[in-house]
Formats: sequence, structure tokens, C-alpha cells
Amino acid sequence: MDLDRVYNIQMSDIGFIGLGNISKAIIKGIRLNDKLLKISSYDIDKKKFLDANVLHIKKSTSLEELVKTSKVIFCCVKPDIFPEILFLLKPILSSKQLFVSTAAGVKIKSIQSILKKNKIIRIMPNLPSAVGLGVTALKHNSKCTAKDIKNVVKILNKIGTTIILKDEKKFDSITAISGSGPAFFALYYDAMLKFCTNSGFSKKTSENIASQTIKGALEFLNISKIMPDNFIQMVSSKGGTTEEGIKSLIKLGFKKTVNIAHKKAERKSKLISHKVSSIIKK
Ligand SMILES: NC(=O)c1ccc[n+]([C@@H]2O[C@H](COP(=O)([O-])OP(=O)(O)OC[C@H]3O[C@@H](n4cnc5c(N)ncnc54)[C@H](OP(=O)(O)O)[C@@H]3O)[C@@H](O)[C@H]2O)c1
Repeated sequence: MDLDRVYNIQMSDIGFIGLGNISKAIIKGIRLNDKLLKISSYDIDKKKFLDANVLHIKKSTSLEELVKTSKVIFCCVKPDIFPEILFLLKPILSSKQLFVSTAAGVKIKSIQSILKKNKIIRIMPNLPSAVGLGVTALKHNSKCTAKDIKNVVKILNKIGTTIILKDEKKFDSITAISGSGPAFFALYYDAMLKFCTNSGFSKKTSENIASQTIKGALEFLNISKIMPDNFIQMVSSKGGTTEEGIKSLIKLGFKKTVNIAHKKAERKSKLISHKVSSIIKK
């Protein structure tokens, strides 16, 4: 595709600062159903643009160029270099532009301490955004209008579900649920896969059995609206195999362990947030 022709209009709808894991996940999710949205990016690492054609994005040669040619700025760099980027943006970001931060643990108040006059939106996306099944939490500052929020939600809804938070503190819980949750779940899936291969199934067949079992169970719960505890009762015949397995999971504290993992992740998110806030204050 001739990108120069596609981008003959100078302005992009979104400009991504940093083209790493999360920005690529967001862009891939958008591209599943929207090839027309104009997207640009600036990254210090030129290798990150090797798949720019597949992602249908334009490469900006400087941070200034990206900011001057993008309506909405998504800042997707690691929290440690985030303050440096905020200071670079301060003189070039206009008060009309929307600044969207993906940085974990960086509070709106901290961003506002540098970008005093700007419209700021803090989001917490997750990697399943790449397949259009992401969960993104969002909180905005008082400078954003209802139209600004509507525009950003419209973009985020392309990559999954968007949750608008009333209380910014909820970012710690969301980080522990939709941020860390996919990895916790991958651990369960991995354990199931190991059991499949140990039972003599090939790797391919094991993946097929385990993923379809999990997908099927979740889809059944969602469509039937049956609550998980009722479902467990439905499939646990008295004296049967499921009852035996469930008894052992309960005895080993399965639910308690999952709860502890989420709690620990939530506490860690709070700690990181305090740490990052104090670095920005300095
Ligand atoms: N990954 C996730 O699942 C996830 C989920 C939610 C939120 N987040 C948040 O999203 C942010 C990005 O995370 P990530 O995992 O996508 O990080 P990442 O993969 O490291 O991507 C960041 C990119 O920014 C580049 N970069 C570094 N300094 C830059 C600069 N001055 N100007 C432009 N680009 C620069 C990096 O290049 P180098 O590699 O050369 O440094 C890298 O390509 C973080 O704040 C994180 O908290 C991530």
C-alpha cells in the first residue's frame, strides 16, 4: 500500500509515542475493524517500524512532528522515562489536543503537575486488545469535554470493552484484574496443557482440547447466564469425577490462592503508583 497516498492529509487521528507491546496491541485491535483511522507513531527504536505497513501506520521522524500532526496523543512509553517525555511535550502540546497516558501507576495529578493546561486521559489497557477482546479502564481530568471522552471511548471500543472509572484509585484493582488476570489465567491454561500432554495427547491436540474446553465453559456461562457456582453443581454428579476434582481444588485453597494473587498484584500496583508519583514530584 502506498502510505504517502493514504496520508496525503497531514493530520493523523492518533499519534503513538512509543511503538512497543501495548501500542502495537492497541493498533492491531483497531486495524481488525478500522483500516481508515489515520495513525502515526514516533519511537526512538527504528526497528519497531518494521511492521509499519502491516499496521497501516505512518512513521514520524521526531516527537515534535508526531505531536504537531496528531489530534490525539497516546503516550505508550515505560513509566521510568514518562516524566522526561512529559517535559518534552509541555511546550508543544496544544490545549485542544487530548493526551492519553497508558503508563501504569502514573496518576492524573502527577501528569497535571507538568501538563497543567492540558486535557488528560489516563487509561489501563491490556494485551488482548490486539485481538479486539481487551479491557480498558479510563479516567479523565476536568479539562476534557463530554465530546473528548466520547471520541476516545469510540476508539477504545474498537479494541474491546471500555470501563469509565469514577474513582482513580480503582486503577489498582483494574490493573490486578484485567492487567494481571490474563497471565494468571495463562498459568491455569498451562497446567491444563501439561496434564493433556502427560496423558499422551500431542501438543496440537492438547492445545485444541484445553482451549476449546476453556472457551466453551466461558461462552456457556456467558450465554446461559448461569452463575459459576450453579454451573459447578450442574456438572458435578454425586460421587462423580468433577465432584472429586472440585473437592480437591477447594481443599487446596484454589479460590483463596487466586484471591491472594489479585490482592498482591493490587497492592503492588499501589506501591508502584506511590513510587512513580514521588519520582515525578522531585
Ligand atoms: N505491556 C502491557 O501489557 C501494558 C499494559 C498496560 C499498560 N502498559 C503501559 O504502557 C507503557 C508501555 O509499555 P510497553 O510494554 O508497551 O513498553 P515497551 O514495549 O517497552 O514500549 C515502549 C516503546 O517506547 C520506546 N521509547 C523509549 N524511549 C522513547 C522516547 N524517548 N521516545 C519515543 N519512544 C521511546 C521504546 O524503545 P526501546 O525499546 O528502545 O526503549 C519502546 O519501543 C508503560 O507505561 C506500561 O506501564 C503496558
